Amino acid sequence: MSDFQAPKGVPDYLPPDSAQFVAVRDGLLDSARRAGYGHVELPIFEDTGLFARGVGESTDVVSKEMYTFADRGDRSVTLRPEGTAGVMRAVIEHGLDRGQLPVKLRYSGPFFRYERPQAGRYRQLQQVGVEAIGVDDPALDAEVIAVADAGFRALGLDGFRLEITSLGDDTCRPQYRELLQDFLFGLDLDEDIRRRAVINPLRVLDDKRQHVREMTAGAPLMLDHLSDAAKQHFDMVLANLDALGVPYVINPRMVRGLDYYTKTTFEFVHDGLGAQSGIGGGGRYDGLMKQLGGQDLSGIGFGLGVDRTVLALKAEGKTVGETSRVDVYCVPLGDAAKLALAKVAGELRAAGVRVDLAYGDRGLKGAMRGADRSGARFALVVGDGEVEAGTVGVKELGTGEQVDVGSDAVVAEILSRLT
Ligand code: HAM
Repeated sequence: MSDFQAPKGVPDYLPPDSAQFVAVRDGLLDSARRAGYGHVELPIFEDTGLFARGVGESTDVVSKEMYTFADRGDRSVTLRPEGTAGVMRAVIEHGLDRGQLPVKLRYSGPFFRYERPQAGRYRQLQQVGVEAIGVDDPALDAEVIAVADAGFRALGLDGFRLEITSLGDDTCRPQYRELLQDFLFGLDLDEDIRRRAVINPLRVLDDKRQHVREMTAGAPLMLDHLSDAAKQHFDMVLANLDALGVPYVINPRMVRGLDYYTKTTFEFVHDGLGAQSGIGGGGRYDGLMKQLGGQDLSGIGFGLGVDRTVLALKAEGKTVGETSRVDVYCVPLGDAAKLALAKVAGELRAAGVRVDLAYGDRGLKGAMRGADRSGARFALVVGDGEVEAGTVGVKELGTGEQVDVGSDAVVAEILSRLT
């Protein structure tokens, strides 16, 4: 055993399983690419204040889960716990919001949260996200949601549901908050919940304990107290989703772990995952840009959990991605053969074929074992005889059938048989 292990709750992605990870990440990103979202690669760490202000001091993410440290210049920096604040920072910093709106961006990569590790919950997690910034149009909300829905479905996933609600806007949320607090303060709550009711009353509705659920069953709901504008926005989002054929259920008690959400808010939930059932989530954030020092423009986006999507596919018994490492495995017997096959391998690779070679002079048996393990469909076998004759033995590993092909015809032969 090694003297070192990966940090607790931090996964390694290794072959062959990593092929699923790559296929899920790229599949989700591609759904966004096809809807015109441009790719951004942003810093893994940012000024701590960005997250404190952007995500919200009262959230668990900021108050308990951030990887924050002082760098050697004594600046407080934080490993990004989510993507939206960093995207907004970059949009403001580079003036993208002064160009064509909405600014549509996509991203993927690792995020860091010091949560208690468990199945489907990691301290380094991977997301694919999009943000559409600068236009407050319910049709855009529906597009963002439809891109996520299409991304999951393109992977073959179907055991999930989209839950959606509205968290209201500036004109109705403050009154609703008071209404909810009045209701909560009238209940026989313990100190802990009471404190939560003061800081973030919505989160009390998210308490999973049975007795709290029963007590709050009759709590007033934001959806019943939306302003006319927020209600109209929400109705239009639903109408657009209906038109796009994206199924949803309304969950008026949905609570998200980040403070910036306003109006449309949603989550994708998969039932095959146990407690960590959220495979993606997002929503509109009308005040975020202004709060970070930019113009007063709104935005909407999502973050999809790549790790959990991989688990959800597994739960549905589905596989995505490449099931083998290579298409062709070269078995050279002797130095001259090695050189000849290295050349052929290069030509095949240039033609887009995945090729590996046996290294280390393992002999025919050992090399053929390597061929089997690689998952290749063909082995190319060359010994002194073939070198002299200028041929290559092309063996179909599934059937054991072998034919001799002239060296300069191998690429064409493999290409025609692979398609
Ligand atoms: P979030 O709901 O905190 O939203 O995270 C999005 C997704 O990341 C979750 O639905 C889940 O699948 C995955 N995820 C979160 N934490 C973990 C974890 N510890 N382990 C494994 N997977 C995890 C956001 O981060 C927002 N920035 C999304 C957004 C973009 N909203 C607007 N724009």
